[in-house]
Amino acid sequence: MGSPHPTSLRSATLSPAGRGGSDRPLDHVADFPAIPEGWAYLDTAATAQKPQAVIDAIALGYAETYATVHRGVYQRSSDMTLAFEAARRRVAGFIGAPAPDEVIFVRGATEGINLVAQSWGGTNLGPGDRIMLSMLEHHSNIVPWQMIAERTGAEIDVAPLTRDGRIDLDAMAVMLTGRHRIVALAHVSNVLGSVLDARRAAELAHGVGALLLLDGCQAVPRMKVDVAAIGCDFYLFSGHKLYGPTGIGVLWGRTELLAAMPPWQGGGAMIDKVSFEGTTFAPPPGRFEAGTPHVVGVLGLEAAVDYVERIGLEAIGAHEAALVSETREALKSLNSVRLFGPDDSAGIVSFAMEGVHPHDIGTILDESRVAIRAGHHCAQPLMADLGVDATARASFGVYNGPRDIEALVRGLDRVRRIFG
Ligand SMILES: Cc1ncc(COP(=O)(O)O)c(C=O)c1O
Repeated sequence: MGSPHPTSLRSATLSPAGRGGSDRPLDHVADFPAIPEGWAYLDTAATAQKPQAVIDAIALGYAETYATVHRGVYQRSSDMTLAFEAARRRVAGFIGAPAPDEVIFVRGATEGINLVAQSWGGTNLGPGDRIMLSMLEHHSNIVPWQMIAERTGAEIDVAPLTRDGRIDLDAMAVMLTGRHRIVALAHVSNVLGSVLDARRAAELAHGVGALLLLDGCQAVPRMKVDVAAIGCDFYLFSGHKLYGPTGIGVLWGRTELLAAMPPWQGGGAMIDKVSFEGTTFAPPPGRFEAGTPHVVGVLGLEAAVDYVERIGLEAIGAHEAALVSETREALKSLNSVRLFGPDDSAGIVSFAMEGVHPHDIGTILDESRVAIRAGHHCAQPLMADLGVDATARASFGVYNGPRDIEALVRGLDRVRRIFG
């Protein structure tokens, strides 16, 4: 692989146009030191590569400004606390949260959903209550609900998909009843790239008195999200899919919901007063952030938010939409390829090739330096619904350009030749 191209620690800027004479103004591959020349990284839906700006923020956090937060009486710790809380405000603004205290830092989307399922679900669900999910959910938005349903006696319903792979809200509207307490849906499918009509989902959920939780993992990296405008009740995402670090994510919840929810993990930082007679708890967000937080991860997440906002979410969305449509057109011309999901999918293209297992596609493409994902994508119920064990998936980010699609198509041609 080619050599990386580091920039100095404090020179975190946006690249101008892409490397290698790309014709795309939004091809920022030069910002990403871990993407060597000639490597087509098409697995952003699993995790995004990191721009130098994020790497620099993490390095600075450990090399110069590091200290714990919320506890220290010394200057460095108070400064870090200010930076940490400023990052919370920045993230709140990023998703249109009305108040920064509605933003809870968690390890990632998985932890965020488990938190809501255990804390909100543990106190608000009981026998006879129902939870509405959809057929395209990631296991992270299925298994935590199964666990709490088992504990509380609630039951799960599954909204079907339309023929082109969207959550069928018309069908869901018919299925919803006054027994449904929560609807939990992916804002963008990690397999099909289909985008939910989130406002309509909120109206439908609220119409029967249920809450709406949105899994925004695949939405926040590619579209402007405004939780207040959507009208949802919980929203969550992982930092690492937004060009930020692993181990940090965000759960947003409406103030009155969070205030009524019990803590789900006990420990330091989440308390008001502790004695052996009993403990009282801090208000949100502290109540849900037990233990020393991922201080530098939060700074890295803030840098990632800065990074995507400087490029512009609308521009990123348009860039990825163009890449998706070029890819789908190119794959349609290979007659052994089956495409999944709608034509206007957001940044993600899943496909299968007749007579070739997706794992073989992935392995052969890797030999051509094209990195895609092959497997069930943590969505086994969706695979069963599609009638396949697995799919191949190409997903895009700000560093991709037409050269990556060309490399993918050349690689798929090679797969075809190998398999005759
Ligand atoms: C739609 C969706 N939800 C949830 C997750 C889980 O995210 P994490 O593993 O970062 O917690 C993913 C990750 O692939 C995802 O794509």
